[in-house]
Amino acid sequence: MRATRPTAVSTVLLVAWLGAAGAAAGQSEEKVDYLADVKPILEGFCYECHGEDRTRREANLRLDIREDAFADLGGYPNIAPGDPDDSELYIRVSSEFAEMRMPPYEAGTQLTDEQVETIRLWILQGAEWPEDEAEPGGEQPDGESR
Ligand code: HEC
Repeated sequence: MRATRPTAVSTVLLVAWLGAAGAAAGQSEEKVDYLADVKPILEGFCYECHGEDRTRREANLRLDIREDAFADLGGYPNIAPGDPDDSELYIRVSSEFAEMRMPPYEAGTQLTDEQVETIRLWILQGAEWPEDEAEPGGEQPDGESR
């Protein structure tokens, strides 16, 4: 019995350590990518009213162009890199209030909690948006067929 006790204790410690290490690693490694993770959400749920089509554009806000997406909205930022809670875009997609929430109720679609979290993490991680992205409506680079 003298041998089993320390073994049991170390097993417990090992499991606890692995658990903590795993959780920490999961947090730091989950790097959100604009093109792969964020753009498809904006494209699918926001471009309809905040995209290329001038006749359907709402709030004079474009989310398909980097410069516009990072523009000031009149005293408050649409995207404040590193600070989701100060970013109108995140405030809108995560709002509890139906009249604030994007996409609007009438659109008939909603972001999943996971999609909202992807946007939060992306902004928190610095909201990296590649500058050399192809202009919307222009030539798409090979391989990008969306
Ligand atoms: C069906 C049309 C529609 C869709 C789809 C839509 N929006 Fe909007 N959006 C609006 C309208 C209308 C307003 C202006 C009214 C308001 O402020 O609520 C607005 C306003 C906003 C604003 C505030 C702009 C400002 O100047 O304060 C943000 C940010 C925004 N939308 C983000 C989004 C995001 C992100 C998505 C996709 C997840 C999205 N919207 C999808 C119609 C839409």
